Amino acid sequence: MPSLDDVTRPPGRPPRILYGGDWNPEQWPEETWTEDVRLMRRAGVDSVTLGVFSWSRIEPAPGAREFGWLDRLMDLTHAHGIGVVLATPTSSPPPWLGRLHPETLPRDEDGRTEWWGSRQHFSHSSEAYRRYAAAITEDLAARYADHPALTMWHINNEYCTHDWGDEAARTFRRWLRHRYGTLDALNTAWGTDFWSQRYGDWAEVLPPRRAHYLKNPAHVLDFRRYTSDQLLECFRAERDIVRRHTPHLPVTTNFMPFWSGQDGWAWAAEEDVVSVDVYPDPRDPAAGAYNAMIGDLTRSQAGGGPWMVMEQAAGAVNWRGVNHPKPYGLNRLWALQAVAHGADAVCYFQWRQSRQGAEKFHSGMLGHTGERGRVFQETVRVGQDLARIGPRVAGGRVTADIAVLHDWNSWWAGDQDGKPSRRIDHAEIVRAWHRALWDAHLPVSFAHPHHDLGAHRLVLAPHLHLLDDRAVTNLLGYVHGGGTLVCGFLTGIADHDDRIRPGGMDARLRDLLGIDLLQEWWPLDVGEHVDCGTFRGTLWSEELTPAPGAETVAAYRGGELDGLPAVLRNGRAWYVSTLPEPAALSRLLAGVAREAGARPVLDGLPPGVEAVRRGDLLFLLHHGRDQVTVPLPGCHRDLLTGADTDGTLTLDRYGVAVLEERGPEPVPAAGERP
Ligand code: GAL
Repeated sequence: MPSLDDVTRPPGRPPRILYGGDWNPEQWPEETWTEDVRLMRRAGVDSVTLGVFSWSRIEPAPGAREFGWLDRLMDLTHAHGIGVVLATPTSSPPPWLGRLHPETLPRDEDGRTEWWGSRQHFSHSSEAYRRYAAAITEDLAARYADHPALTMWHINNEYCTHDWGDEAARTFRRWLRHRYGTLDALNTAWGTDFWSQRYGDWAEVLPPRRAHYLKNPAHVLDFRRYTSDQLLECFRAERDIVRRHTPHLPVTTNFMPFWSGQDGWAWAAEEDVVSVDVYPDPRDPAAGAYNAMIGDLTRSQAGGGPWMVMEQAAGAVNWRGVNHPKPYGLNRLWALQAVAHGADAVCYFQWRQSRQGAEKFHSGMLGHTGERGRVFQETVRVGQDLARIGPRVAGGRVTADIAVLHDWNSWWAGDQDGKPSRRIDHAEIVRAWHRALWDAHLPVSFAHPHHDLGAHRLVLAPHLHLLDDRAVTNLLGYVHGGGTLVCGFLTGIADHDDRIRPGGMDARLRDLLGIDLLQEWWPLDVGEHVDCGTFRGTLWSEELTPAPGAETVAAYRGGELDGLPAVLRNGRAWYVSTLPEPAALSRLLAGVAREAGARPVLDGLPPGVEAVRRGDLLFLLHHGRDQVTVPLPGCHRDLLTGADTDGTLTLDRYGVAVLEERGPEPVPAAGERP
């Protein structure tokens, strides 16, 4: 499959970073459309996503087709040199579908119906839904396959529905039969002898609906796996239809960022382009680190190649308790930060801010204030910056010596009720470890525990509650092959069915990490911490006996755990049995990275300045508001300003530089005037 840039770039034009957003012109009178494309051109927008929520417009009654308006839009965008990412409209079925086929409506855990009147009210398992979705996808693809504006397909939108209803019960059983073959195997995998849950007939197996007390965790785990697979089946069905019509065009669906609902590795493998929607809170001091993590994860899902920001907000969103706008410069900083982490497309929800509907208070690239508004001025500025750097940046790769392991199965298994501490939050732990590396300016990728890890000098497993045998073998092979591994607490405690391993952790992993006995877990409450000598541990602590030969790098001091290892090392395998406070975790991981030969991008950066290398370019991103001076050895030219550096670089608030290294100035030949 060709790259994003290859297929979306008009012939004869240099490589570029795609720039644009969701455009919902069906919400506006047609006179507005020409104004829209004029302003898009002014802002340098070269891509729009059309049709995301247009099902009731295209199919106002069952089987009817109204394509005229979309024909005119496709022609209009093309005439203005703007490409179209065309969406299948299947995430929001028209009211008539629910009326005619109530079984298309999903049921929640309590059996309540999710009615039409909002969006995403479809059961992934409903045959009627899938039939109508396939039919409209087929007609859409047939109609626009040869349209010159079409550059890419966008299937559905943020697949995230659940269904606990009867349609789901039917397909859940089918999925389980396929996985286990027999009820006996299912009973064994789920441990149904606990609390008399043994199933005697497939008809007794239900989605994990509202129950009196704690549910069977293996049942819940399989339901999450199944839900991800069901939605993926919906995606594949539509993807295959559009591919049949346009085998040369890439297909994507937009992920929510670091979201637990879909197995992000399995899904990404089914896409041509991986795209994500990112909405950090402008008030969150950790937002820069969060964006970096989303970029690193999405790039890794894309196999290390370019990816796409499908959605972000130009200003405020409307779904937090309190919704803050982005201060001047922050939109640009985050857009360029995504590019630094490997994005070849920077897009927004949405182009023109709505005047009606549930998102009328959500910003757009063109806000209610219009062309003179600050948000639009920034939209123009971002477009100019992307145009400047695009030809040099697009297609460039970001590489990292360090991999963070992440697996959705572990997330699903680990984040259930009935565990030693409700405070354990998989996402927060992964975030804390990634943040520690980000603070140390160490480039990071993500990997699945089954991936070949050989290219990485250091591999981190912050929190892999569930590790199957293949993953354990992979980690062992990695360390025996010369790699360095750091595991966080609760890693490897359960097998693929979420069955606790004998001894509380996989025995081979215990040997590798130098743990003789895992005695007791000592979770920590809010505000509680443990003294680990040079740092404080939070959230968790452990009573463990090290194996002979293992080195206690940091020990708990005082209390029940006095003298026991907080950080244990066995050669190149490390185990961290608490969550060190942020600065300490960063120091610890940076030290291990140094020893493993993983280097920071730059040394001596002022706080809040992020450095990322993409291809042969160096991005410096200033996440703070006070002017800073960055020491920068060598000669560089900033592609954004054209200015040369002379050993230092000054960045204003939210400032960005995209630097190209310049060779030494040529020495004038004898007799030549300098
Ligand atoms: C996304 C969604 C968009 C829009 C946006 C608002 O989750 O895909 O359609 O609702 O949020 O932030």
